Amino acid sequence: MNLLYISPEKPDIWRDEIARQMPDADFRVWPDEIGDPAEIDVILCWRPPADALRGYPNAKLIYNLGAGIDALMSDPTAPRDIPVVRLIDPLLTAGMTEYMVYWTLHFHRNFQRYAAQQKDHVWRSLPAASTAGRRVGVLGLGELGAAAARALVRLGFGAVAGWSRTPKTIDGVESFSGAGDLKNFLGRTEILLCLLPLTDETRGIVNRDTLAALPRGACLINAARGAHVVDEDLLAALDGGHIAGAALDVFNAEPLPADHPYWRHPRVYVTPHNASLSIPEAAVGEIKSNLARLSAGEPLLGRVDFDRGY
Ligand code: NAP
Ligand code: GLV
Repeated sequence: MNLLYISPEKPDIWRDEIARQMPDADFRVWPDEIGDPAEIDVILCWRPPADALRGYPNAKLIYNLGAGIDALMSDPTAPRDIPVVRLIDPLLTAGMTEYMVYWTLHFHRNFQRYAAQQKDHVWRSLPAASTAGRRVGVLGLGELGAAAARALVRLGFGAVAGWSRTPKTIDGVESFSGAGDLKNFLGRTEILLCLLPLTDETRGIVNRDTLAALPRGACLINAARGAHVVDEDLLAALDGGHIAGAALDVFNAEPLPADHPYWRHPRVYVTPHNASLSIPEAAVGEIKSNLARLSAGEPLLGRVDFDRGY
């Protein structure tokens, strides 16, 4: 099987892992090692440059080497007549769950306020909400959002809710769905986690109106995509005190420009888009099983629905 790797990121770790786990596969790297484009069976890509995905007449599958497929969907030249799948990998999910649990506890336990107090040598205990009563809300209850919500329930969070396109049944998680339910969901959410895919419908979803719908003192954790957030609106809500804190892993411009106000905002925490990374060692196993499904004509895991956009 001939695999073509298309990404601005270095291929080495993928090449090594494919060689180890799929010794019969021929791993080629775009653009220098393509060879005859008609020989390519499967494209492995991550943030492929525009126009790079077309021109492989016998490719049977495009495999997105991460969870988010927004870069691929925004390329109008990307083929739509062969399936696209995105990586669904237990380690990627576990990493995101850790990120979400960490920051939820941070805001839940007032740790940002203790850090501020420490600077001023202030010894003062702050009132804390109980875990049972803390109202956490997850935007997006897919692979990652549902896993984060379940982990919070396991930790004892008793008022976890989630918002998705279609209603969900998850033990301990109140389900809100559809545009009509968004404001109800936000109105009851003190700590908001964003794990939506970036689509035409979700771009800019964290904006002046939706932030205003959260209760005063709410906090935001965004590890989905930077373009979910309207930065000026978030900064205004932080400066006005309506939003108490934000932990952000993803940004409208990445790397986050050196002069961006997020860097120096006292109540914003910045991480460099690494809430959860694809780990080739685990991912290649998932890719292998999906390729076996493809050969057997079975349904593929993580198949992207072009109409929905994710
Ligand atoms: P997923 O399984 O496709 O889940 C998406 C969820 O969002 C689903 O519950 C879906 O609802 C909901 N949704 C989509 N459009 C909606 C809309 N218009 N209104 C309401 N709900 C909507 O995605 P995932 O694997 O959980 O990944 C989510 C995102 O995380 C990725 O797209 C990526 O951007 C981001 N990510 C970031 C990192 C990082 O390191 N920062 C790592 C991995 C992923 P339904 O269930 O009803 O379809
Ligand atoms: C990372 O951002 C991913 O979408 O996997």
